[in-house]
Amino acid sequence: MKLPRKSLTRLTAVALVALLLAFPACRRLGDYDYKIDMNDYEAAVTADKKTYLMLANKQHPLGESFAPASVSTLPGELTLYGKTVELESTAALAAEALVRELHACGYDDIRITSGYRTYAYQQSLFQTYIAQERKKHPDWSEAQCIAEVATYSARPGESEHQTGLCMDLISTDHVALDESFAQNPAYAYLVENAHNFGFILRYPKGAEATTGYTYEPWHFRFVGIKAATEIHERGITLEEYQA
Ligand code: DAL
Ligand code: ZN
Repeated sequence: MKLPRKSLTRLTAVALVALLLAFPACRRLGDYDYKIDMNDYEAAVTADKKTYLMLANKQHPLGESFAPASVSTLPGELTLYGKTVELESTAALAAEALVRELHACGYDDIRITSGYRTYAYQQSLFQTYIAQERKKHPDWSEAQCIAEVATYSARPGESEHQTGLCMDLISTDHVALDESFAQNPAYAYLVENAHNFGFILRYPKGAEATTGYTYEPWHFRFVGIKAATEIHERGITLEEYQA
């Protein structure tokens, strides 16, 4: 039976609409094949608000009083030893999706070890690092110790962690934040796929002059899937994306 051209066109259109309705996630989330059910996470991952693009760095300090509008606590099974980790509420859902997906892909040693940090907490961290440098280099001046710390830790008021939009990932097989995280098989997955969950590797190797910090293979920043995909595809930093 030969169908008239008009009927064929109509049939094709109906089939296309049916396909789009059947796979709404594929339609909106690009071509990544999610292992987890994204129903609860899709709105967060695709969130596209200017606040998610905010820069917090040495040139764009947040100041003492900044705090995210709303924070959520991550599920304990996704954090290191079940400790309390908070993130800005949308970033928290996107982070949950990313870590659940990591586990579904077999990278089940990965946990979140740090998220939202207050100004006061960052202040105490910065002081702790200075004390460590003093001990390590007894011959260094205070200024030298501070300058060294500032290459890997933000001063209070300058940390992206104070936005609640970033997290540090860690392996339960190696509970220290160091460059060995880049050898964990999950890292290669993250570099290739974190953008599908709205996250970017925030302090890449070789970008120290732009970001102001040394390479941090464990630190991932939420910007939403649209910006994250562009940043990933262009191989740039958030600073360059905003320029
Ligand atoms: N380690 C990053 C730069 C921070 O302290 O926020
Ligand atoms: Zn971090």
